[in-house]
Amino acid sequence: PINALLFDLDGVIVDTAIYHYQAWRRMANTLGFDISQEFNEQLKGISRTESLEIILAHGGLTVSENHKLELATQKNEWYLELVSQMTPANILPGVTALFGAVKAAHLKTALGSVSKNARLILERIGMIDDFDAIIDGTKITRGKPDPEVFLKGAAELEVRPDECVVFEDAVAGIEAAKRAGMLAIGIGEPSVLTQADLVVPSLAALTLAEVLTLTGLKT
Ligand code: G6P
Ligand code: MG
Repeated sequence: PINALLFDLDGVIVDTAIYHYQAWRRMANTLGFDISQEFNEQLKGISRTESLEIILAHGGLTVSENHKLELATQKNEWYLELVSQMTPANILPGVTALFGAVKAAHLKTALGSVSKNARLILERIGMIDDFDAIIDGTKITRGKPDPEVFLKGAAELEVRPDECVVFEDAVAGIEAAKRAGMLAIGIGEPSVLTQADLVVPSLAALTLAEVLTLTGLKT
C-alpha cells in the first residue's frame, strides 16, 4: 500500500519554477544570449551549479570558476527577489485540499527538493510545518535524477520505497523517483514526463482516493 507521499517543491507545491526560469533568463541575457521555455524543461529539478553549467554550454561560453560562483550568486539574488514577494496565495491549485485529505488519512508526507531555498519558501507560503520530513539541497550530495533525495525522504519517514508515491514536474525528478523504486505522478505534459506512471495537469485534477488506487498500476 501507499503510506507516504513525497513532494517536489518548485512547480508542484508552489509556482517557483517560473521564477527560476526568469532569473536564469536574466542571467543569460546579460551574457548575450537567451534561453527558451522549451530549453528550460531540462533545467527543472537540476541543482544550481549544474544548471549554470548547462546554460553556459548552451551559450557557448567558457568562464572561470570564480566567475561561475559570481553568476550563481547573482542568479540566486534575482531569484530571491522574486521569492520575497511570495505569500500563501502562491500555493498551487489542489495542494491545500490534498494535504487536508492526507492528514485526515494519517499518511506521511515528505518534501524532496534539490533547492537550498526550500525551507525559506515553505516559510513564506506557511507550509513549513506541513511535512513530516524535509529533504532539501542542504541534505543531499547528489541532485536529481539521482534517487538520493527521495530515498532519504523514505528513510526519514521510516517507510519502504514501494510504499511511496512521488509528485514531480521535472523529467529529472520523475527519473529519480523511478530509480528509487517509487510510484511517480507527473504534474505537467504527458509528452514531456514520459517516464511517469500517470501525468495530470495539476494536483487539482487528482483526489487522494485516486492516488491510493494507483498502486495497482505499478509495473
Ligand atoms: C529545484 C528547481 C531547479 C533549481 C534547484 C536548485 O530543483 O527545480 O530549477 O535549480 O531546485 O535550487 P536553488 O534554490 O538551490 O538554486
Ligand atoms: Mg520541480
